[in-house]
Amino acid sequence: MDFAASIPNGALVLDAGAGSQPYRDLLGHTKYESADFEAVDKNYVRSTYICDLKDIPVEDERFDYILFNQVMEHLPEPGRVLRELNRVIKPGGKIIYTGPLFYEEHEIPYDFFRYTQFGLRKLFTEEGFEIDRLDWLEGYFGTSAYQLNRMALYLPVKPSNIARGIKGYILAPILLLVKVFGMIFSIFFHRLELELKYTQKGYPKNYVAILVKKK
Ligand SMILES: C[S@@+](CC[C@H](N)C(=O)[O-])C[C@H]1O[C@@H](n2cnc3c(N)ncnc32)[C@H](O)[C@@H]1O
Repeated sequence: MDFAASIPNGALVLDAGAGSQPYRDLLGHTKYESADFEAVDKNYVRSTYICDLKDIPVEDERFDYILFNQVMEHLPEPGRVLRELNRVIKPGGKIIYTGPLFYEEHEIPYDFFRYTQFGLRKLFTEEGFEIDRLDWLEGYFGTSAYQLNRMALYLPVKPSNIARGIKGYILAPILLLVKVFGMIFSIFFHRLELELKYTQKGYPKNYVAILVKKK
């Protein structure tokens, strides 16, 4: 991750909503702390601060950088959490945000929102951040690969799960074919995404933003 590499040695970093801390190894050159409420039924790596992100038990302006990765859609009061992140980061400090525009419900029941670029701009600026960049994380090939993969995974093929009687038996082989082609095209689009990032039309699966606390 370019953001991790751009952080100077010894900087104090907060991984906000760290979960299993997948980026910790990339931050070995920094002083790493994490915060998470650890309330979802999944495996966590124990956080430095087990807390709700709207109330992080640290002093003002403690952190140089914050990782805020795939978390904001899970917050019922995103503005309040952004205000708290603004409190705990130094003036001029940077936050990397990523979050989905198009992604299935997950971490249930803590999944509340999906954000457009306009919603993100509004929230970030209202809570005192300058937006250094706000971009598509994946191109539309990546979004398509994801959509096709989910379709291949979830379309029913058992006749009785599709419709009653003969209709179920007619539709089942058609849906099976769609599933198989869905999976093949999902792999194809995933490969395209790795080589090309098409952003002229469509929409991203996730947005990525770099936010700076005003000095
Ligand atoms: C989708 S996971 C992302 C984890 C990690 N940042 C990553 O990129 O893999 C969202 C995380 O946010 C945490 N979370 C959700 N709501 C929270 C809240 N109100 N306060 C603290 N942590 C929260 C969850 O426990 C979960 O670990």
